[in-house]
Amino acid sequence: MPTETSVPAETAQWWRDAVIYQVYPRSFADGDGDGIGDLTGVRERLPYLAELGVDALWFSPWYASPQADAGYDVADYRRIDPAFGTLEQAEALMAEAHALDLKIIVDVVPNHVSDRHAWFQEAVAAGPGAEARDLFWFRPGRGTDGELPPNDWQSVFGGPAWTRTANPDGTPGEWYLHLFAPEQPDLNWNNSKVREEHENVLSFWFDRGADGVRIDSATMPAKDPALPDFDPDAPPVPHPYIDRDDVHDIYRSWRALAESYERPRALIGEVWLADPVRFAHYLRPDEMHSAFNFDYLNCSWDAAELRRVIDATLAAHASVGAPASWVLSNHDVTRHVTRYGRADTSFGLSLRQHQVLTDLELGTRRARAALLLDLALPGGCYLYQGEELGLWEVEDIPDELRQDPIFHRTGGTDIGRDGCRVPLPWSGERPPFGFSPEGASAPPWLPQPQRWAAYTAQAQSGRPESMLTFYRTALGLRRSERGLHGADFGWLPEHAPGVLAFGRGDGFSCLANLSGTAAPLPADADVILASAPGFDPGAAELPDDTTVWLRRR
Ligand code: NOJ
Ligand code: MG
Repeated sequence: MPTETSVPAETAQWWRDAVIYQVYPRSFADGDGDGIGDLTGVRERLPYLAELGVDALWFSPWYASPQADAGYDVADYRRIDPAFGTLEQAEALMAEAHALDLKIIVDVVPNHVSDRHAWFQEAVAAGPGAEARDLFWFRPGRGTDGELPPNDWQSVFGGPAWTRTANPDGTPGEWYLHLFAPEQPDLNWNNSKVREEHENVLSFWFDRGADGVRIDSATMPAKDPALPDFDPDAPPVPHPYIDRDDVHDIYRSWRALAESYERPRALIGEVWLADPVRFAHYLRPDEMHSAFNFDYLNCSWDAAELRRVIDATLAAHASVGAPASWVLSNHDVTRHVTRYGRADTSFGLSLRQHQVLTDLELGTRRARAALLLDLALPGGCYLYQGEELGLWEVEDIPDELRQDPIFHRTGGTDIGRDGCRVPLPWSGERPPFGFSPEGASAPPWLPQPQRWAAYTAQAQSGRPESMLTFYRTALGLRRSERGLHGADFGWLPEHAPGVLAFGRGDGFSCLANLSGTAAPLPADADVILASAPGFDPGAAELPDDTTVWLRRR
């Protein structure tokens, strides 16, 4: 096991202003040519990530899994899925990333496991009343013969949240709870074995060099043991399974574990909650270090709305001394180039728009402006693979190729998340665009648009006006700009409505123009970087949907 040397406090708190890049392993790069991204592919591209200028990589689950929900159905945390590689490769990847100064975040999924996890298999085989069943939520059904689910809860992915099992003798048996797909049975966190096992899993990865964990569906593991029926349009407080007070015990004990390392490990929560006060509870000093800012992701491209969300974010995080975070895309949401090119630029998990009129050029201009805004705000930023290439949501995937359980469980009413998970284009003129090596045995697991020929990393490298060059430049400047690393932040008063203007550090300011028309630029400042390609640094005006970084003369 690697020994740890002591590190200065500010390095130890690296997550406070880190840029963390999400790698979605199936879609990043395919080293072995089976059409599915893998660890070999990632290892080959680590220099690309280092050159991009990010500080850390978050890996969506790479563990052994039947992939019913793209790896968020974990069968064994101590093995890597054979489609992705081996544990030795994961260890080598982490060491190679560290040598390039990239930190590693792994994903953990406390709410549920795969139905192929040894625990669940054992529980089903053991039959009603067995101790093994207490690790999950098995219950007899209602109705005369137990033919009705134990309560009226619905799965997040559509359909009932309960599936009936067969008894060991083949007769219809108990039901089990799954808030997501039936292949993802929910764990019972009241059972101490569940708690111990997860802490062992954390130690397993921390001991192998992981610098932190991203915690999946972090508001959901604690349940009301009475499992009451409820009306989802008017849920009771506390909710039967979202954001219950006792869920925090889990993260307090994880924090203690993270702090037991000389170089403390970071806990990053997936906390979808509208209430900023309840959200901030997860970031109290003895809980998580950071959480994704979904209010910001959901927010429409509107100056007043963004300003409100930024203020609310900073206030909520300040109340618990946690760093804010800024995020625009991930593997669950419509890519923001597409969102920002629509008439309604807001997002909601349950309101996924699909095939509405989209102006990708407008979306791209706004995505560039949004990046400079994010990177200039105090706190950390999360990037999703492919956004640095300016990729958009792929909306024309044929139904028969769609893999997301959301698409299937809603009968296609919700188109699902495949469109943001299409394999990345690296080089060349035709699919697989270097995603898979020459002579691959299978095409990429989702089809790539031919138009991506102009969006490959290779095609964009060295081109001054490309999205990739813009990301590299912006990330490089953010790193070297000292004013961007403190906590200070202040709105500047003198700008027109529709212009977000704020100062950071000594003489640094950021202006984002969402006013719908050109806005004057201050005369006493130099433009360090502009989001619009080909922007004239001597210009007196800032075009609409453009952000600039300025330094006072
Ligand atoms: C959130 C993850 O980000 C998503 O991809 C997954 O389907 C659900 N949690 C269930 O694990
Ligand atoms: Mg592969």
